[in-house]
Amino acid sequence: MESKILLLIIVIGSLVMTSVKATEYVRPPPRKTLHFPWDPKPSIQPEQVHISLAGGKHMRISWVTTDHSGSSYVEYGTSPGNYNSIAHGESTSYEYLLYHSGKIHHTVIGPLNDGTIYYYRCGGEDPEFQLKTPPAQFPVTFAIAGDLGQTGWTTSTLDHLTECNYDVHLLPGDLSYADYVQYRWDTFGNLVQPLASSKPWMVTQGNHEKENIPLIKEPFASYNARWRMPFKESGSTSNLFYSFEVAGVHAIMLGSYTDYDKYSEQYKWLKADLLKVDRKRTPWVLVLFHVPWYNSNKAHQGEGDQMMTAMEHLLYAAGADIMFAGHVHAYERTRRVFNGKQDNCGAVHITIGDGGNREGLAHNYMYPKPKWSAFREASFGHGELKIVNSTHALWSWHRNDDDEPVRSDQVWITSLVGSRCIPQNNEGLREYLLEP
Ligand SMILES: *[C@@H]1O[C@H](CO)[C@@H](O)[C@H](O)[C@H]1NC(C)=O
Ligand SMILES: [Fe+2]
Repeated sequence: MESKILLLIIVIGSLVMTSVKATEYVRPPPRKTLHFPWDPKPSIQPEQVHISLAGGKHMRISWVTTDHSGSSYVEYGTSPGNYNSIAHGESTSYEYLLYHSGKIHHTVIGPLNDGTIYYYRCGGEDPEFQLKTPPAQFPVTFAIAGDLGQTGWTTSTLDHLTECNYDVHLLPGDLSYADYVQYRWDTFGNLVQPLASSKPWMVTQGNHEKENIPLIKEPFASYNARWRMPFKESGSTSNLFYSFEVAGVHAIMLGSYTDYDKYSEQYKWLKADLLKVDRKRTPWVLVLFHVPWYNSNKAHQGEGDQMMTAMEHLLYAAGADIMFAGHVHAYERTRRVFNGKQDNCGAVHITIGDGGNREGLAHNYMYPKPKWSAFREASFGHGELKIVNSTHALWSWHRNDDDEPVRSDQVWITSLVGSRCIPQNNEGLREYLLEP
């Protein structure tokens, strides 16, 4: 009798154990790198079309023609096939060892109406593309995914982004994983074209964009030629750091791999940019860079410390709300934090370098989990930030569960605007930022 009861307990116990196991998420291995036919046969047909915000009410259209006789103009209008406006732009190209790039065109169109669909054509050639300009005010939604690469997981992430109803894509570095093999920039451009030609993609650079060869090739040459961002429009001297404003949000895009010390161009520009922020116009301040400052994964641990030491105090003084980083191939969200400790006036830090590249996931975490870490998981996925008004934003992270996007973390984030953390009328901040 007793042994029967014991057996029953063991059977029930093991059933409970397996059902617990079944609900636990099993993280998938990396997927294969995609192979694309690459056909450099000269053509004036536009390819690799992507768009980016280019100052108030303007959009930059970027594309490549493998034939260098392609023209840099864009025809556009608000109904299909009916282009009542035209804008002329510029082009560039580069050489990289034995590789010759196509003609890379950049053309700014506008002024455009907010929240409006435009139809456009590049260099007088079909096909017709369409884009949607972001809204003038809240609500505004950002899709965020970093460290994308070109694998089976990348397509899964891109498919989920297609389902997401977002206005602007934010990418905190590591785009193509070309890693010196230049035609991979071209295949990446074509892979993301369906998304990047219809909504603005605002990117900053990661280590995989560097591609420098000492004495032969400057860092970021290919990235800068292809992914031109609105740096001049935001008073910056370099494509590696800039800012933009959209629908009540001031977004600052920093460079983790360019000088950031007190005497650097980037540091001086950041101070000047923070002084321009008007929290009445843009209640939200977002910051993006590649190497995370708060991350409890063992991968790349401490790599962001120097930049954090140099710049965190400026962003704290200005009351930055959320900082996004990539680099670590996992997801992590912190509580508000500053100077290594929880701080109600600090920023929420989100590491979202889990777009799906070929290097796979970063599984090893530090124990015990730091107090500031609110959620961490090594899975591929993407994030969505829906800013509903001047004080409330809904952040969600969607894990690529097999190929389904499963919402795995969700939290309301309230902005620092109106709190004692933000100096009224920039009082004190001005003196602080103007200090040499
Ligand atoms: C902002 O949105 C939140 C969440 O929907 C709501 O609770 C709050 O009242 C809103 N605030 C304003 C000023 O509309
Ligand atoms: Fe990286």
